[in-house]
Amino acid sequence: MENLFDPLVFASGLEAPNRVVLAPMTNKTSHDDGTLSDDELHFLLTRADGGFGIVTTCASHVSKEGQGWEGELGCYDDAHLPGLRRVADGLRKRNAKSLLQIFHGGLRADEKASNLPRLAPSAIDGARAATEDDLARIVAAFARAAGRAKAAGFDGVEIHGAHGYLLTQFLSRVQNTRDDGYGGSLENRARLIREVVRAVRGEVGGSFTVGVRLSPEDFGNATGLDLDESVEVARLVSEMSDFVHLSLWRSALNTTKRPEEHALPLFRKAIPEHVKVLVAGTVWTPGEAQDLLALGADAVALGRSAIANPDWPRRAREPGWEPRRPPFTPDELVARGLSPKFAEYMRSWKGFVE
Ligand SMILES: Cc1cc2nc3c(=O)[nH]c(=O)nc-3n(C[C@H](O)[C@H](O)[C@H](O)COP(=O)(O)O)c2cc1C
Repeated sequence: MENLFDPLVFASGLEAPNRVVLAPMTNKTSHDDGTLSDDELHFLLTRADGGFGIVTTCASHVSKEGQGWEGELGCYDDAHLPGLRRVADGLRKRNAKSLLQIFHGGLRADEKASNLPRLAPSAIDGARAATEDDLARIVAAFARAAGRAKAAGFDGVEIHGAHGYLLTQFLSRVQNTRDDGYGGSLENRARLIREVVRAVRGEVGGSFTVGVRLSPEDFGNATGLDLDESVEVARLVSEMSDFVHLSLWRSALNTTKRPEEHALPLFRKAIPEHVKVLVAGTVWTPGEAQDLLALGADAVALGRSAIANPDWPRRAREPGWEPRRPPFTPDELVARGLSPKFAEYMRSWKGFVE
């Protein structure tokens, strides 16, 4: 079995120094025009200093109407390039590999932040049903965003197909009630995400790392998903990807649909060997991370434990090390490289801030 500290080589040729990944984490500190702030850069670089082999940015919107919230990083305009370059350069200097997470909020976009009406698969909750022209524009926007990531010097992109945002909304049997080629059968509901992956791959070529994040089952804002359909979606997108990233939220638990089975072996079996499987969800200790590798993951992504322990990968090598756990005071979070605004935002994560 692989060890957390073994290098990880992707089909693209990218070699990460270890298998500990900083999960994408929104921190609402970008400037109003979507350009990078020093605060955001600092948070990411401190995690690279702490030894994370791969550092993923927060979700960044590929088009203005896809913006999910105020203070979100943008990748929809060349004006974002200088900031993206600073992230990619800083991470490279620290020996971490870099992924830009690219995103469209769809129904969950924030009209106040974007100043534009929301687009969704179907006309629900006040959003407009996207036309085929809208979809072609969105697919092209994902591709151009990936092109910007490459131009900025990132090692790859993670396409956000999880958590109930636009691409999940299309996969959803509840939110997608279209009767054209993008709705109905799973093949149709998966058309948009496949078009996005294909367009991204076409834009960046084979030596740039491309991955897709998926929610396997309903959780939180992801609704209308079915485990077996998600496995099939993973199989379909893996034809054009270097990795699939499973967002499980509670990775110690088995699936809801089949409580005797864990998601990892299921997905691992369906996805070709050369496509890597990343997993995230309530991983605190090195032992928990290692258990996920034993179940078939190739790398483990940390969210809240990486906020709490900026140097988790370095410390995890020490026998008997115990990570710090919440709650934290805002000052303790600032001492861990979060801006006061990010520390304040962490109050919305139950039990995290004192
Ligand atoms: C503050 C915060 C912001 C997040 N933002 C994103 C995001 O931008 N994109 C995403 O795919 N997931 C996001 N997530 C989910 C994490 O990537 C991760 O999957 C989740 O937190 C479970 O891992 P954890 O238990 O280690 O925190 C966020 C989580 C947190 C705590």
